[in-house]
Amino acid sequence: MNKTKLAGFCLLLLAGLLTVSCRKPRTEPTPYVIDIPFGFPTRLNIPADNPMTEEGVALGKLLFEDEHLCGYQGSDPDSLMSCAYCHVRSHNYDIGDDNPHFPDGIAKGRSTGKRTIHNVMPLTNLVFNNEGYFWNGSVCAANANASSIEDIVRMAILADDEMCGTEARALAAIRADSRYPEMFKAAFGSEEITMVRIQKAIAQYVRSLVSGNSKFDRYLKGREQLTPQELHGYILFTTEEGADCFHCHGSDGSPLFTTNLFYNNGLDAVCMDDHDRYAFTGDVMDKGAYRAPSLRNVMVSAPYMHDGRFTNIDEVLTFYNEGLQFSPYVSPLMHKLEEGGRHLTPAELSDIKAFLETLTDDEYLNGSK
Ligand code: HEC
Ligand code: HEC
Repeated sequence: MNKTKLAGFCLLLLAGLLTVSCRKPRTEPTPYVIDIPFGFPTRLNIPADNPMTEEGVALGKLLFEDEHLCGYQGSDPDSLMSCAYCHVRSHNYDIGDDNPHFPDGIAKGRSTGKRTIHNVMPLTNLVFNNEGYFWNGSVCAANANASSIEDIVRMAILADDEMCGTEARALAAIRADSRYPEMFKAAFGSEEITMVRIQKAIAQYVRSLVSGNSKFDRYLKGREQLTPQELHGYILFTTEEGADCFHCHGSDGSPLFTTNLFYNNGLDAVCMDDHDRYAFTGDVMDKGAYRAPSLRNVMVSAPYMHDGRFTNIDEVLTFYNEGLQFSPYVSPLMHKLEEGGRHLTPAELSDIKAFLETLTDDEYLNGSK
């Protein structure tokens, strides 16, 4: 080896050694990739300042289920409350009809007993919603005070009809738990526990809740056939002369089973709610309007409607069939309003119900959720 070659070799060796010794232990969190179900929109609602990571989602899940997040450090069970008290996993993150904390299906503030303004909402597929959150869509880009799921986390912790906490108490409770510092470090780079980080982690977890694993999804992919009854229900659901549900609740071309838009679907002749869509937009045509909920997992997410007035799906179908109430604000997409409903036969209603059952994710059917 001549001198130049030797010098070159030594330089290479040095560079190699330097790279090895400078490589720090890996601290970057792992990006979380949303597995977008077949046919779903690909535009995700993820704020630029809160990219999803595996570590953030794992931390968010623990916080979401943590009964101390409301800020009580004692062990008095009557003082505890987590997000999961109202958003129950086995009910598509809705309140459910067998909730041990709210046996009547009506959510209330932990220490105030004050009823929530509206029925609880399911939390799946929110990452695909770009139209605003809450029944009236008031949490959206146009609202300077509350526009994101991050904001909703904070609101839920503080609200006197929800967790009844304070920022100081919530922080103290989470800081007192030795499991958290490592997890905050893994998710956000340091052990510091702040309200903003709590909001971010829980929002990441909520965005990770995707529903798209039902019999109907396999049908869409051509992997499983629907029974003749389910298929007939599906045809009724998606045709104007049938049950005509698809304009607001989606179809195979819109498999979220909601447009995420706002309609008055004819529940009441006079809307008595001060928190309808109109209360937010000020547009009279929005009186009595609410966001059309997704019908995915609808069979496990009773009670139904913004006020939880219907306790089972048969009541909902009877309403659409013969109970529509006239008002000038009912959406023009709600056909047959003058006749009070669709007036389908009992057999047709059972077919629609059979179709709605195909929208239930496998996890709920096999009990793994
Ligand atoms: C006491 C019951 C209760 C608790 C506890 C609760 N929520 Fe909710 N949540 C509700 C109700 C009721 C709504 C519907 C609000 C409305 O539209 O008026 C809702 C709506 C939401 C929404 C909007 C969903 C959508 O589709 O627009 C999100 C997101 C949410 N909650 C997340 C959380 C998180 C995260 C926590 C914990 C920090 C939490 N909630 C705790 C009752 C609760
Ligand atoms: C004009 C739009 C529109 C049409 C058409 C429509 N819906 Fe709805 N649907 C809504 C809205 C809006 C809500 C929420 C209303 C509320 O809570 O006040 C809703 C609520 C529901 C709910 C309750 C879901 C929950 O989680 O609370 C079910 C179930 C439902 N609709 C099924 C159907 C079926 C089945 C059809 C066809 C027969 C249908 N809808 C037709 C707009 C519509």
